[in-house]
Amino acid sequence: MLLSVNNLAVSFGGVQALSLSHFSLQPQELRVIIGPNGAGKSTFLDIICGRTKPDTGEVYFNDRAIMGMTEVSIARLGIGRKFQQPSVFPGLTVYDNLLLAAKMKKDILSSLFFKPSQLLKARIHEVAEKIGLTKVLSSIAGALSHGQKQWLEIGIVVLQDPKLLLIDEPAAGMSDEETYKTGELLLELSNNHGIIVIEHDMKFVQQIARERVTVLERGKLLVEGSFNDIRNDQRVIDCYLGRNNTQLENL
Ligand SMILES: Nc1ncnc2c1ncn2[C@@H]1O[C@H](COP(=O)(O)OP(=O)(O)OP(=O)(O)O)[C@@H](O)[C@H]1O
Ligand SMILES: [Mg+2]
Repeated sequence: MLLSVNNLAVSFGGVQALSLSHFSLQPQELRVIIGPNGAGKSTFLDIICGRTKPDTGEVYFNDRAIMGMTEVSIARLGIGRKFQQPSVFPGLTVYDNLLLAAKMKKDILSSLFFKPSQLLKARIHEVAEKIGLTKVLSSIAGALSHGQKQWLEIGIVVLQDPKLLLIDEPAAGMSDEETYKTGELLLELSNNHGIIVIEHDMKFVQQIARERVTVLERGKLLVEGSFNDIRNDQRVIDCYLGRNNTQLENL
């Protein structure tokens, strides 16, 4: 098991944001997590990457207990998180953003000085190809389209060689075409990484959910199953009704 979680619970100001008795992920599994707004999806990723401390519970990454470790140590162990807020340097080129990310993996200080080896360059080009940004490597990151910026963010995380990628709403604000490309990218990345993706867009979920989908509601596991299982599950339909209903209507 790449990731396994037991009895995780966290409350904010007396309100239970997450109460998850069990969750596990295989290496190279691509898991999609869905659920209405406020269901605890982002909180779950926050706990895995060490950003939020749960009140109770255990998280094991490759059988190692990681609860209580700092965000930096957890990242070093191989858990990469792509946040919704951009973290690219808008004034640098795409190439330099990738270069910085690749060097960051080694040592932040030396990254300012050392000359990129051929190996590193090759790796940057390989990732640029994967994220579809080869042609814009010398463009300033701030001038990229919204979709391209998101792919660059994913590329930056991928360059850290994480074994587990945590991705929160990657398709938010994207055009249909960009969303589709993002789906294909995630499917390809799942050949090399375990991935947890949070997403609202059901068409996108259908595209990438080749394995299990986890549905959270009010901090709890509502149901887990294949895309078709959850799509036709009355509990899932009900939990979206009267709330954030736009997503299920997409299908
Ligand atoms: N740092 C925090 N302080 C206080 N309350 C928080 C904090 N983070 C999350 N919450 C609350 O915890 C609950 C779960 O929030 P979370 O952001 O995990 O939901 P989500 O499923 O990611 O929702 P969305 O689909 O809107 O992104 C919500 O009620 C939210 O208001
Ligand atoms: Mg969220």
